[in-house]
Amino acid sequence: MAIITLGDEPQRALLQAARAARLNAYAPYSNFRVGAAVLDEQGQVHAGCNVENAAYPQGVCAEAAALSAMVLAGGRRATALLVAGEGPTLVTPCGGCRQKLREFAAPDTPVLVADGVGVQRWFTLDELLPHSFGPEHLKPA
Ligand code: THU
Repeated sequence: MAIITLGDEPQRALLQAARAARLNAYAPYSNFRVGAAVLDEQGQVHAGCNVENAAYPQGVCAEAAALSAMVLAGGRRATALLVAGEGPTLVTPCGGCRQKLREFAAPDTPVLVADGVGVQRWFTLDELLPHSFGPEHLKPA
């Protein structure tokens, strides 16, 4: 079992940002609103929401939007990510978003999952995406 730590204040900031982002989700087809927030190496929080599209596969997940916001703002490392959904079933990042996070995060990077009540689960990225492929695979030996 991995030991993962994140201070109370960053956790609170991530939860607040992800919940606020979730309110702006554009999800007219699924009616399933998701918010996400990522903490970068400078301690800055970047949020995103899901943005659906009439051409369904073109929709963007909240986590992908949050990572894009981080990169736009100059962040290059994700030190924690929080996903905020609502309802009885926890919203963990989809497979594609796990891989997108892999680009900017370490195996022990915490991924927090919140519902309408609060943070319910903590995972490491490696728990969600074991034996993963990343940038270092493309570096010459
Ligand atoms: N969705 C996310 O934004 N993040 C997740 O972790 C799971 C799913 C979105 C995609 C789509 O807009 C809606 O939720 C239903 O799948």
